[in-house]
Parts: sequence; C-alpha cells; structure tokens
Amino acid sequence: MIGHDGWPDAAEPCRTHGRSVNRAASSASPRLRVAVLGATGTIGRAAVAALVRRGHEVTAIARNRPQVGGPRPFPGARLHLVDPADAPETWTRKVFSGARYDSVISCMASRTGAPRDAWAVDHDAQLAALRAAQQSDVGHFVLLSAICVQRPSLAFQHAKLAFEAALIASGLRHSIVRPTAYFKSLTGQIDRVRQGRPFLIFGDGTLTACKPIGDDDLGDYLADCLTDESRWDRILPIGGPGKAITPREQGEMLFARLGRPARFRSVPVALLDLIVAGLAGGGRLVPSLADKAELARIGRYYATHSMLVWDPVAGRYDAEATPSTGAQTLADCYAAILAGGAAPERGDHAVF
Ligand SMILES: NC(=O)c1ccc[n+]([C@@H]2O[C@H](COP(=O)([O-])OP(=O)(O)OC[C@H]3O[C@@H](n4cnc5c(N)ncnc54)[C@H](OP(=O)(O)O)[C@@H]3O)[C@@H](O)[C@H]2O)c1
Repeated sequence: MIGHDGWPDAAEPCRTHGRSVNRAASSASPRLRVAVLGATGTIGRAAVAALVRRGHEVTAIARNRPQVGGPRPFPGARLHLVDPADAPETWTRKVFSGARYDSVISCMASRTGAPRDAWAVDHDAQLAALRAAQQSDVGHFVLLSAICVQRPSLAFQHAKLAFEAALIASGLRHSIVRPTAYFKSLTGQIDRVRQGRPFLIFGDGTLTACKPIGDDDLGDYLADCLTDESRWDRILPIGGPGKAITPREQGEMLFARLGRPARFRSVPVALLDLIVAGLAGGGRLVPSLADKAELARIGRYYATHSMLVWDPVAGRYDAEATPSTGAQTLADCYAAILAGGAAPERGDHAVF
C-alpha cells in the first residue's frame, strides 16, 4: 500500500555513470531519491526531516501500524507502508522492486534489544534490505549503528557487527554511523528529580562518560553522508557538541537548572551483577526470564562503558578522539523539558 504526502511528482529519473539521479538535480547538489528504513523511529523521523530540508525526494518506509497514522506523518516525504506480517525478504523486495532509489538510510533496529529480535531486525531484516537494494541498483547504503559495538558483549551488538561486516563486504558504497548516547536515553530521571527524589548513579557517577547527540543533529549527519565524500566507505563514530559528560555531571546540570542542591543515590554495579545472575539462572527454566537477563546485561553494560571512541592501545575510552557534530546540547534539552516541553519518547528499550 502506498500513500503520497507532500512532494510533487518526480521528473523521470535518468542515469549517469551507473547511478541514477533525478533530472531536477543539479550536479553541485544532486536531488537524490532516498528510502529511509525505520522511518517511524526517533532517528528515522529526524533523518526524513533532514533529507526533506535538503530537497531530496524522500520515501519513509514504515510498518503498517496504527501509530504511523495521521494525515501528514512525514511532511514533505512520501510514505510507503509495508505489511508487518510479511517476512523481511518479502517486504524489502516490495520496497525495492524496480530501480526506485539512489540511496538508502537505514535506522531500523530492534525495539527491545532482546537476542532473537535483535538478530531478526538488526541483522536479518537489514541484510534482506541490503540484498534487495543491491539488486535494484541502489548506489549508497547509510547505516545507523551504535558506538557501543566497538567492544561487543551483547547479542544486539553482535547482530549489528555482523550486518556491518556484510555491508562492507557487499562492495556497495556505505557509511556506517556509530553515534554516542541520544538525549532520550539521558532524560529518564527528569520526572523523579522534579518530584524531589535523588538522581540515581552507578558507583560515584563517574564510571562512564558520553558526548550526547541531539536527534536533529544526528538526522543532519546521516543525511549529509549522501553528499559528503569524506563519509563514504567509512565507519563514523559521532557525538554531539562540547566535552564528554559523566552521569554525575548530568545530574548536577539537572539540579542546577531546577535551582536545587544536587542529591544523588548510588547504586552499586554489584547489584546489577546479582540481578543478571538471578535472571540468567531463572532463564534456564523460564525462557521469558532469559530476555530479561539480556536487558539487565544491557543495563550493566551502559553502567560501566563510556559511549566514546575506544583506544585499544591505551585500553581506555577517549573523549578527545570522539568526533562532534551539531549544536544541540543536553543542557538545552533539559531546559526545554523543564520549561514545559515534551520529554522525548523513550520507547521500549529506554535503557539504551
Ligand atoms: N538510544 C541511544 O542512546 C543510542 C545511542 C547510539 C546508538 N543507538 C542505536 O540507534 C538505533 C535506535 O535508533 P532509534 O532510537 O531511532 O530507534 P527506535 O526509535 O527504537 O526505532 C526503531 C525503528 O526500527 C523499526 N523496526 C523495529 N523492528 C522492526 C521490524 N521487525 N521490522 C521493520 N522495522 C522494525 C521501528 O518500526 P516500528 O515503529 O514499526 O516499531 C522503528 O522505525 C539502535 O540501533 C541503537 O542501538 C541508540
């Protein structure tokens, strides 16, 4: 089922040097036909908007689910709904039948991070999309990955890495974007702090650090991968502006905005270890507990690993080596929410 929204009918595409570009495109700034997979996600939506701002012909690919609804869910972009009952192989073939797109940006990812779902989405569905895209003459595949795959220990990280390897091996022009932490992952404690409760930290709150990146800044970064040759055939770790900040600094920032003295409650990492061990043990008897054990492992991972570039020689995370983009800061995001703005939608796996 295909719905149309926004953009005028495209001129008949023409081919140049094996890659198709729209006739309306200028050589300096080509108007590309771009399919965005995972368009209903936080970053997928931002990527669609960024591409529309750049004048590309954008198609948001989404599962046909009620929450997609609304008269103009993706202003300026076309919407292509696919049936979620279809296997990935089927729907990706439908999406890419005919040479419709110059480029793909995939922001598709498991919403739970549970092992089976992670392999089904982050690997299998992406691979099906890649193969179908190749067959339909797509010239460039931009992948939204994650910086945490540098030191993999979780199922979803292995699934992502396996797909990254398949994308590189495909020979297709690619940009693998590995962002640091999103704002939605760092705003979950605003309500409890507003209610007068302490900010929760693991250890002393300085075990980790990250360079938070705003949704729109990441959307812009993904969109610019299509035209910035320095981002082609590369793995691209990317953070937001400013210095790296620890969870303790995030809490201090929040209390300062509220005009209150900072209050913290420390949670020992050993408690997470106990929870993981308990759930993993239970998971041998009750399969649903195995998924919960993986979610607890994910929580433990983020409690102890920085979302920064890893220096394997020095054996440490390196804030200086982590590139920055954009202008949106976490402090601005806190200020906007405290001033009455909506908190970001945190999704099913808020632990990310
Ligand atoms: N949160 C962080 O701080 C952070 C930091 C760095 C990297 N990352 C990475 O960023 C990615 C998540 O980005 P996000 O927050 O924008 O994701 P998100 O909001 O959870 O959206 C996921 C997208 O994937 C789609 N999807 C999920 N399962 C699918 C399936 N079986 N078939 C087809 N589509 C499916 C969803 O469609 P529906 O709307 O239909 O469910 C949605 O469009 C993950 O790879 C994560 O590892 C996250």
